[in-house]
Amino acid sequence: MIHFVGAGPGDPELITLKGRSLLEQADIVIYAGSLVSKAHLDYCKQSCERYDSAGMTLEEVMEVAIRGDREGKSVVRLHTGDPTIYGAIREQMDFLKQNRVEYTVVPGVSSFTASCAAIKREFTVPDVSQTVIITRLEGRTPVPELESLEKLASHRASMAIFLSVGDIERVVEKLAEGYGSRDVPVAVVYKATWSEQKIISGTLEDIAQKVRDAKIDRFAQILVGYFIEGEYGRSLLYHPEFTHGYRQGTE
Ligand SMILES: C[S@@+](CC[C@H](N)C(=O)[O-])C[C@H]1O[C@@H](n2cnc3c(N)ncnc32)[C@H](O)[C@@H]1O
Repeated sequence: MIHFVGAGPGDPELITLKGRSLLEQADIVIYAGSLVSKAHLDYCKQSCERYDSAGMTLEEVMEVAIRGDREGKSVVRLHTGDPTIYGAIREQMDFLKQNRVEYTVVPGVSSFTASCAAIKREFTVPDVSQTVIITRLEGRTPVPELESLEKLASHRASMAIFLSVGDIERVVEKLAEGYGSRDVPVAVVYKATWSEQKIISGTLEDIAQKVRDAKIDRFAQILVGYFIEGEYGRSLLYHPEFTHGYRQGTE
């Protein structure tokens, strides 16, 4: 059996119990070495075969995984954060399906929620935004035109932008166009939950320069929106006058 497992954002304690247990039992681990902490491998058996997928193709990864499965071994494909977000797992799952190999998917803590936790904020606050947009700037991987940053920014929803800090100037220009303003709060979180974590705060006016000064050009989340700074409304759920299935509100 092959298990796609989310390793979490970096801190090895942020993997699920299920993920850790699968790592402990694994005979083969194929991990995304660029952003998965090697500390996760300390929990594997000594006999466990380890492969860093950073230098491997899809076909090479699949060859190792399918060979292991055919030999009756337990295989963990360890992805950074949550495997369902920019994990390139769909093509792996389809490859396995074509080869009639069974697999499971174990979720993980994504770097976008870890980054929001790092800045001690909530994406969804009343009277500000009830929507989170997870997106990226187009690079060598294209992004559909309807999902361009300027179009998404025009919704003024909370945003988490992956894979884009290397082109922060272009991100800022597109966001400013969508918002029609540069007075928009932004936080860039580099390597959230790692010991090297850095948080850079600013607005669309100054964030690009601050990020350049901090020499951050990869492994970062760009969080954007008024959930970072500004007023918000109180939640109804915990309001004394609000009645719901578990509590009678006061008049
Ligand atoms: C290929 S994507 C994988 C995302 C991953 N599946 C997740 O759920 O976080 C890699 C990008 O995720 C973001 N990322 C991953 N780990 C991060 C972390 N610890 N802190 C900040 N951003 C991170 C960066 O934008 C990075 O370029």
